[in-house]
Amino acid sequence: MIETILGRRSVREAFAERAVPEEVVRSIVSCGLAAPSSKNAQPWRLHVVTDRAILGHLARTVEQAKNAARYVPLDPATGEPRRWTSTVAESAHVLGHVPLAIFIENRGEFSSGRTTVAAATGDVLRSALVGYGFEMIGLGACIQTMWLAAEHHGLHGVFMGDPLIAEDEIRSTLGTDNDFAGVLCLGYADGGVPPKEYVDDLVVWHRPDETA
Ligand SMILES: Cc1cc2nc3c(=O)[nH]c(=O)nc-3n(C[C@H](O)[C@H](O)[C@H](O)COP(=O)(O)O)c2cc1C
Repeated sequence: MIETILGRRSVREAFAERAVPEEVVRSIVSCGLAAPSSKNAQPWRLHVVTDRAILGHLARTVEQAKNAARYVPLDPATGEPRRWTSTVAESAHVLGHVPLAIFIENRGEFSSGRTTVAAATGDVLRSALVGYGFEMIGLGACIQTMWLAAEHHGLHGVFMGDPLIAEDEIRSTLGTDNDFAGVLCLGYADGGVPPKEYVDDLVVWHRPDETA
């Protein structure tokens, strides 16, 4: 398990045409459903898409979305774009070339979704953001669990938030009014991406004082 965790990297290219067997997909999905979530609310609904026509349609919609070239996180204090450049075109390409994509819907029991949160103010907004954050943490656990399960089965891929630029089309294609957290794209590919270095200064140790 440790090897799988430390070896996992985002893979975005060279996916084989080969379909993912149904029992493998089911195994991955059941691992996602086993993830922890605040209050055990299980804020996810998983849309498992293996239909290449749907993936091709959504990939084109993402690629052609308005402002695709400028889709980067904004600074909420200024409304100005943050330092990153848009990766929407690359993400659309991935979506159009994988045999399996799992779209993660947020059922939003705590937050009722982004639009509701955005309409709140003051202390209600602050509290709603905590609930929304907890939902996202649960969804993140679900996503990572599926990703690691997929690696265990010899699959590689990447989780992507960029496709949310076309979230309305994703909603209507997949048949829900709820928000999405993103999409986990998976397939058979040469992993080939080296493991990351452990970054020691991102960990702070608070050990017992051994001199006391
Ligand atoms: C919330 C989130 C959103 C992401 N969105 C995208 C995306 O839209 N497109 C993409 O190619 N990668 C996306 N990624 C993958 C990250 O770029 C990747 O995890 C990061 O660069 C670290 O590389 P690694 O996964 O190989 O460790 C996303 C990852 C996370 C956790």
